Amino acid sequence: MTSLNVLTYRTGPRDVLPVVLLHAFPLDSRMWDDVAPLVPGARTVLAVDLPGLGGSAGLGTSSPALEDAADAVAETLAAVGVERAVVVGLSMGGYVALALLDRHRGLVAGLGLLDTRSTPDDDAARANRLRIAAELESSGTVDAVRPMATALLGETSRTLRPELADRVGALIGQQAPAGVAWSQRAMAARPDRTPVLRRFAGPSLVLVGDEDVAAPVAAAEHMAAALRAPHLVVVPHAGHLTAIEDPDAVAEAIGDLAGRADIDERRARG
Ligand code: MLT
Repeated sequence: MTSLNVLTYRTGPRDVLPVVLLHAFPLDSRMWDDVAPLVPGARTVLAVDLPGLGGSAGLGTSSPALEDAADAVAETLAAVGVERAVVVGLSMGGYVALALLDRHRGLVAGLGLLDTRSTPDDDAARANRLRIAAELESSGTVDAVRPMATALLGETSRTLRPELADRVGALIGQQAPAGVAWSQRAMAARPDRTPVLRRFAGPSLVLVGDEDVAAPVAAAEHMAAALRAPHLVVVPHAGHLTAIEDPDAVAEAIGDLAGRADIDERRARG
């Protein structure tokens, strides 16, 4: 039984769907600190540290795979009594949310994909990830990914709020190099999950910062086009880390998604 670290921001009534937040790379659940308290409505909001990051131990698997991360999230949620939830992932968290949808369909009552993509890496991106993973492992430090602290933020945030890069940098600096390397290798191995999106008829949210370079608006539009009931939100003046750069907009969009999922859930129960 795999148990990941869970950060419970607040607890709501059992008949209202909980929101599960999955973080980006190379960060941990604390990236949701500003969003979680702002999610409207009385509902449980929790975040899970993905394997090897934040307070979660690594999975110790020799072939890193996001499928194993998704299974570990599902087992962890089951252990805390969450069998059905609104699952929201940002970037790497989105890749894991898609793997959850693929492998644990019954868990996903609503799907939020933030600053992420459903397509796999091309050869150059995959090779770059494996190079960085090897560097992390040989150096035993996270130095190879420290530049992401500024690279992930949008130009507006970088210019007007340099303190955000310090905050992201501090989170990166607290991660275990082995966990960061495992995540890179797992992301390099991920398949195209666009077909999974095509099969999903439930409530969804695709959200992207209009200054996101890592997973740009075109990637969000690709996902929205695959969904049967797309709901696309473009956040102005934000880059890849919308949850940190514009927590109000992200919380509002998650609240709206959760509200739609609640309605569908009640309808299904009759
Ligand atoms: C993230 O923010 O999780 C990363 O940009 C994901 C990735 O490297 O593809």
